[in-house]
Amino acid sequence: MDKKITPKDKINGNIKVPGDKSISHRALILGAIAEGITEIEGFLPGEDCLVTINCLQKLGVEIEHSGDAVRIYGVGLHGLQKPKNTLYVGNSGTTMRLLAGLLAGQSFDTVLDGDASIRKRPMDRVIQPLSQMGAKISGNRAPVVIEGTKLRGMSYKMPINSAQVKSAILLAALYAQGETMVEELEPGATRNHTEKMMAHMGICLDISGKIIRYMGGKPRGCGVLVSGDFSSAAFFIVLGVLAAKDGLVIENVGINPTRIGLLDALRQMGADIAINNRKMLGNEEVGDIYVRQSVLEAIELKGGIVPRMIDEIPIFAVASLFAKGTTVISDAGELAIKESNRIVAMSSELAKMGAKIEPRHDGMVIYGGTTLSGAVVDSYNDHRVAMALAIAATVANGQSTIKNARCVDISFPGFFQILDSF
Ligand code: S3P
Repeated sequence: MDKKITPKDKINGNIKVPGDKSISHRALILGAIAEGITEIEGFLPGEDCLVTINCLQKLGVEIEHSGDAVRIYGVGLHGLQKPKNTLYVGNSGTTMRLLAGLLAGQSFDTVLDGDASIRKRPMDRVIQPLSQMGAKISGNRAPVVIEGTKLRGMSYKMPINSAQVKSAILLAALYAQGETMVEELEPGATRNHTEKMMAHMGICLDISGKIIRYMGGKPRGCGVLVSGDFSSAAFFIVLGVLAAKDGLVIENVGINPTRIGLLDALRQMGADIAINNRKMLGNEEVGDIYVRQSVLEAIELKGGIVPRMIDEIPIFAVASLFAKGTTVISDAGELAIKESNRIVAMSSELAKMGAKIEPRHDGMVIYGGTTLSGAVVDSYNDHRVAMALAIAATVANGQSTIKNARCVDISFPGFFQILDSF
């Protein structure tokens, strides 16, 4: 599907974004191996989370879902069954890596495979630590074959910033003999939704600074309320900062500190942003994010803030084009191995609109103050690239076409309806 975008000059009002992708995945996976029923409200019915449901159903878990409501009949820690065929994870790296952790310690074998993008993404980052726990996994890229076996606990210092790797280890720890400890890389913390969801379901973790220890306990089914996804809100936060003369409110968004590096970066650039109506939703904090058109100054983005906004860098690049001065992004080499190479995708497609961006191996140099012109650009079949380009097109001069735009459904079904509503 190609999507035409016409520039808009009246960005205002109140909008809501769908549920958090990371939290939805964790609620599904932990709910599947919980004792009792888990009921999720505010679930993200995006393609990535739907493939996780499908994989868990193939593992013998009964799951009912309709829109953003999900009911999981947990089978308990040892109740999963050998699937009849390969588990297909589609485009979802989170499904692939978290399930590798879950399945390594089962009493049966599984094969995990995905789409062309997944087949290119590195899996050794989970296979290496899981092997240290005794896991038997072959294939550095999808398809990977997991031979279920007995696992042992381990101490692991993460060589990279990755919540997916941390989460795979914590899931495997539930099946391991002996203590498991995982230590995050300095600087920067990755999203901590697995730790929070585990605690919410009654699993005991000891967290001290960067060190997380699994202390025992099994997940118990419970109610889960999912907040709006900050990573989806991010596109409209930037649109608001660039164009909402009278302000724009994005309601009920998750504001977990491990996720909102983009707010810190935009504020540092001079953006007018406020968070109102803060409250707890389950054990995650949410708030209404108010943004208003602001004058931005370029910054240098590097170090510990980068993992806290890793999924927001494509849209941050768009914001930087409108800042005064040159923005330099470094320490973001992970961008090259996301759903697409986001360094290449953003630099080449924004250049078609007239932007001056230099790709680097671990980031980008973005020259601010350019005027964007409408163009035909490609999403690289990457949902976040498609949405970042759509926001750029909304504030450009003239009409644009985003080619292969259907991929927004991976994480944000309804994205274009909201954009078209302005
Ligand atoms: C995610 C972790 C991040 C992020 C991805 C979702 C998660 O990946 O980019 O979109 O839900 O754990 P990494 O763990 O590779 O940084």
